[in-house]
Amino acid sequence: MPKLDEIVVDQVTALLEGETNAVTMLANASALLSDAIADNNWCGFYLLNKQSGELDLGPFQGKVACMHIKPGTGVVGTSFAQGESLLVPNVHEFPGHIACDSASNAELVAPVYLNGELSAILDIDSPTLNRFSAEDQQIVQAFAKALGKKLDAAGISALS
Ligand code: SME
Repeated sequence: MPKLDEIVVDQVTALLEGETNAVTMLANASALLSDAIADNNWCGFYLLNKQSGELDLGPFQGKVACMHIKPGTGVVGTSFAQGESLLVPNVHEFPGHIACDSASNAELVAPVYLNGELSAILDIDSPTLNRFSAEDQQIVQAFAKALGKKLDAAGISALS
C-alpha cells in the first residue's frame, strides 16, 4: 500500500494560500488528504459548535455520516475531550465507538486548534484493520497543525 507522503503538509499550506473562507478551506483540505491517504473510506472534519457544545459534521469526503457528536463520546469526541490525536487500530475494540459506516474498521483523528483553542477534529476512517501507522499519525497531526495555521492567518476564529 502506498505510504502517506509528508509532502501533503506542505501541499495544504500552498493550496490554501490567500483563501479566507473556512468552508472552502476545510472542503479542499479534506479532498487533498483523502486523495493522499490510500484505502480510506471517510476523511473530514467535526467542528465545535460553541452554542450547543457538540461537534457538528463539517466538510468531508465519503458517505453520509453522523451529524452531531458529543465531546467525550466515540473516537472523535474522546479526541476532542483529550485535545489529542488518537490512533485506533480496531474501532470495534474502542469503547463507545460510533459506527457511522459499518465498513469502517480503523480510525485516525487529530485536533485542529485555532489561535490555541481546540476547534475541530480531523477524522479519517479505513475499512482495513491496523491501517494507520505511528508515522501516518505524525503526518496527520502536522497536517491538522498546518491547516490551523492557515485558518489563523485567514482571521478565522470559529468554525461553526
Ligand atoms: N467513528 C467516529 C464517528 C465519526 S465517523 O467515523 C465519520 C467516532 O467513533 O467518533
